[in-house]
Amino acid sequence: MSLSDSFSFSARRYDFLTRLNPGYRRELRAAARQLAEALREQPPERPLIWDLGCGTGLSTRALLKTLPQARIVGIDASAGMLAEARTKSWPDGTRFVLGRVEQLEHNSAPELVEAPDAIFAAYLLRNVPRQHRTDVLKSLQRQLKPGAPLVLHDYSVSESRFAQVKWTIVCFAIIIPLGTLAGAKTSLFIYLWRSVMDNDSTQTVLGRLGAAGLHNVAVSTARGWHRRILHTYQAVKPGSRS
Ligand SMILES: C[S@@+](CC[C@H](N)C(=O)[O-])C[C@H]1O[C@@H](n2cnc3c(N)ncnc32)[C@H](O)[C@@H]1O
Repeated sequence: MSLSDSFSFSARRYDFLTRLNPGYRRELRAAARQLAEALREQPPERPLIWDLGCGTGLSTRALLKTLPQARIVGIDASAGMLAEARTKSWPDGTRFVLGRVEQLEHNSAPELVEAPDAIFAAYLLRNVPRQHRTDVLKSLQRQLKPGAPLVLHDYSVSESRFAQVKWTIVCFAIIIPLGTLAGAKTSLFIYLWRSVMDNDSTQTVLGRLGAAGLHNVAVSTARGWHRRILHTYQAVKPGSRS
């Protein structure tokens, strides 16, 4: 089963499963606020934001809570996750598109014709094969408007032994047993644990953002049990917004 199929299989339980992760929504909103802050100077009246790997729309909702006037295009490789997102009610201007981020520049969906004022991607880059990650960021850099911000939000534990142990305990004592009881695929949670353990360090992600031609790259860590496990990265495409 491919990763997209595994996400599709668990799509109907996804929102419930994230509730087993205290702080998941709070941290998504905090990351969305960082994006809003980056847009603060000369904000477009109705900024166009791409929410990459939008899944069932939890990140889309976090963006809209912070930027209710935004037009959001959620993009995801899993038809099942998108179908779940589409069952929810959304303000005018929120649209969803099926597609892989690696192929965004070749995606002919009309929703992707206009260049975005900002890009947000929560829990996405780790799921992109390692050898394509910098190329994906380069492609996003090309597609953003000049001066537009990019915010990434994802787990990384490789720089802290304490974070690795904490992550392993939370996965095996809470997330995997409760998720399996709730009927989701255990293999998806094992994948979650392993992909985080193996994920790029924050320094590697910052290096990839720089190599992609983005400026002002920075990282901050989350609060609560997510501290030093979950991180939000910011970067800006060079140029001025007009
Ligand atoms: C953990 S979910 C995160 C969903 C949402 N952003 C959130 O914060 O709740 C990761 C999503 O990324 C999508 N995804 C994984 N690899 C992808 C790729 N290469 N291109 C587009 N979407 C991808 C998956 O289908 C899944 O819906």
